[in-house]
Amino acid sequence: MSADHQTSHAALPSGVQNHIPAGVQRFTPSSPLHLRSGEQLREAVIAYQSWGSLNAAGDNVIWVCHALTGTSDVENWWPALFGPGRALDPDQYFIVCANVLGGCYGSAGPLTHGAGSFPTISISDIVAHQRQLAEYLGIRSIALMLGGSMGGFQALEWLVQAPHKVRKLALVACADSQPAQAIALSHLQMQQVIRDPLYQAGFYGDAPPLEGLSLARQIGHLSYRCDTELGARFAREQRDDGVYQVLSYLQHQGSKLVRRFDANSYLRLNQAMIDFSVVEHRAQLNAFPGDVLVVGIDSDWLYPWHEQVKLADYFPHGRSIRIHSDFGHDGFLLDAERFEPALRALLGQSTELLACA
Ligand code: COA
Repeated sequence: MSADHQTSHAALPSGVQNHIPAGVQRFTPSSPLHLRSGEQLREAVIAYQSWGSLNAAGDNVIWVCHALTGTSDVENWWPALFGPGRALDPDQYFIVCANVLGGCYGSAGPLTHGAGSFPTISISDIVAHQRQLAEYLGIRSIALMLGGSMGGFQALEWLVQAPHKVRKLALVACADSQPAQAIALSHLQMQQVIRDPLYQAGFYGDAPPLEGLSLARQIGHLSYRCDTELGARFAREQRDDGVYQVLSYLQHQGSKLVRRFDANSYLRLNQAMIDFSVVEHRAQLNAFPGDVLVVGIDSDWLYPWHEQVKLADYFPHGRSIRIHSDFGHDGFLLDAERFEPALRALLGQSTELLACA
């Protein structure tokens, strides 16, 4: 395998390239990626970021998996976990986060490989892609595999594909598969994109289906928050022009996403989430000897608390903790300081009890 620093950001539409994190490094595996669909992806570049140094044994690694529209810049989107003395401490660990296959923040995806003809991908393909990077980086063993939301799906899949590589696992606000309600919400989001007349079977070029993608994000964003927060914040208030403030807020979130995300990526990743399940791998996960922490958020109705309890039960050394957040699912980002001590305890860096809920 060889590093390829020739892949240029210039191949990407300007609206998206501006959002690729500045610290991104790139690696292009020399062998094609064999997808679960049977297709092969050549020159499947992986964009990633790393912090700290890999030790001689190649085992001081924390691998972080990002959520649906996230980036490799974990320092930016999980700041409460990051830094000296915290769980993600670059002075002690080699911390790696890769942009997912199928995404649009530097890794191979519809923007780099064929737009609407980019193949259907699975969480299993995303992890197979990351494993090529881990091999290239010389990683022999991962001290902690960590992921929230869609990142949790990837972290679980790592255990299915390479249980011998992972020593401990932490899952935040996810499940063993998308619950029925989440499947329905993902599907409705995808339909908004597909039914936008500008979608053009994914070959929209420089005129992307912005309205459909914005509506999709508004549905998604609603599922990331919760009734109590929205009620306290907006109630039935209206702007001077009569638009309800809660709708104005959602429209703003939709407008923000279309400036930073590709519609084809949104479709591929939503489908990968719908199709993901580790239910059939229960026996294998039950053989995992390491400690597993499952963090749930009390106001999360997308991946509710009972899903976290079920997930922890997959593992002989699994335990679940419940944190409070006013924000619903987004609590996994906005209230990360509430589970940071539990992550340190999992890593053996703290004597603090795991019961931080
Ligand atoms: N009308 C219009 N805009 C409004 C508004 C209103 N009534 N009320 C607030 N806003 C705007 C603010 O001006 C602000 O705009 P800006 O971001 O352009 O500065 C924005 O809404 C604030 O959004 P809010 O959701 O309140 O921020 P937050 O700090 O609570 O949450 C994020 C930050 C990043 C977590 C959240 O915005 C987000 O993107 N969540 C989704 C993350 C995600 O993808 N999660 C799940 C992945 S599976």
